[in-house]
Order: sequence, then structure tokens, then C-alpha cells
Amino acid sequence: MIVIIKTERLQLVEFDTKYALDLLELWSDFEVIKYTYMSLLNSINECKCKIEMFINYTDEKFPNNFVILLDNKAIGIIGSPIINMENENFGLYYQLSRTYWGQGYISEAAKAYIQYLKDVFPNAIINADAVSINSASIAILKKLGLKQTHIEKEGFTFNNLKLDLVKFTNDVYVK
Ligand SMILES: CC(C)(COP(=O)(O)OP(=O)(O)OC[C@H]1O[C@@H](n2cnc3c(N)ncnc32)[C@H](O)[C@@H]1OP(=O)(O)O)[C@@H](O)C(=O)NCCC(=O)NCCS
Repeated sequence: MIVIIKTERLQLVEFDTKYALDLLELWSDFEVIKYTYMSLLNSINECKCKIEMFINYTDEKFPNNFVILLDNKAIGIIGSPIINMENENFGLYYQLSRTYWGQGYISEAAKAYIQYLKDVFPNAIINADAVSINSASIAILKKLGLKQTHIEKEGFTFNNLKLDLVKFTNDVYVK
């Protein structure tokens, strides 16, 4: 199944190695990857391998990983690690090339992605987190209506630096 999610300014399309050059801009930028679980990439070939990995981790019936296009240029990625499909339990990740920060693109993409998720899984539980000093990401999760549940002390390690993780969910049963 080929899925394309359209928003006012963007298109969310499935991963394809043809986006490797655009995504090199994203994945070779330390400022983009420093609060994610990705490592810095240096070449188009490495990007192609990473794209293949996203494709392999994409569910065939329910595409859960997308490239964000602005005027046919890949400017970011968004999607869900599937935590447990049977229990309709999903994560949420997003990354945007630095040139495009601060223009509401991820808010727009994430809103549309969550709507797509909810259309297929009306009771979807979304569990997301952000490093406590990643203010933009925390602002996005709050704006999406997710509720903060707790802080996992030193839950994120990067370059031997331990940072707190702020945990969010839309699960109404979590207090
Ligand atoms: C986090 C990230 C995705 C934000 O994307 P973006 O398109 O610039 O975000 P938006 O423009 O939609 O902004 C969302 C909110 O964050 C706020 N915000 C943006 N940058 C901010 C900053 N540096 N500090 C505080 N708030 C900020 C915005 O004001 C906005 O809130 P508002 O609409 O109430 O004003 C982008 O910075 C990024 O790719 N960072 C690196 C990857 C990452 O950290 N991903 C999250 C972990 S998976």
C-alpha cells in the first residue's frame, strides 16, 4: 500500500533511497541528531543504508515511517516506532533539517501524522519523549495535546552525557 499524507504545505511520503542526498543534509547535522538515537552520517551511501533500515522497519499494511517533502525536497522525517501493534501502542519521532526550523513544519506534519494514525487505530496510544533541554520538541508534544507523565532521570545518554527524558502520552488512563 502506498500512502501519501498531504497537509497545507507538506507531503508525507514513504521512505525511498532517492531522498538520500536531501537526507544527508539532515543526518550530517550534529544539531539535528544530538537528542535522537541516531549517529552522525557522512555520505550518501550511509544515508541509503539508513533509509533501507527505515524501509525494513516499516509495516507493510500500516506504513509508519515517512519522509517530509516541501516542494519535492525531503526536509525531514516523521513516524512511529511500533511498540505493540496488537495493543495499538506507538512511539513518535520527528526530525527537520535546520534551515526549516521555527516555521511550524513539524507541528503541521505531526498533526497530520497523528490523524492518519487515529484514522487507522482510533484507540491508538502514543508514547513519546523528549530530552528535557530540547524545548522545541517538548513544545511540539504539548501542542499535540499529549500529557506529560513523568521524567526519567538520566534516561538519555549522548557522548557520555546523561540527560533527563520527559515522557508524554495520550493514554487517558495514565494519571
Ligand atoms: C524539534 C524540531 C523537530 C522542531 O521542528 P520545528 O518545525 O522547528 O517546530 P515548530 O516550528 O513546529 O515549533 C513547535 C513549537 O516549538 C517552539 N519552538 C521552536 N523552537 C524552539 C526553541 N528553540 N525553544 C523553545 N521553543 C521552540 C515553537 O515556538 C512552537 O511552538 P508555538 O507554535 O507554540 O510557537 C526541530 O528543531 C528538529 O528537528 N530538532 C532536531 C531533532 C529532534 O530533536 N527531534 C525530536 C526528538 S525525536
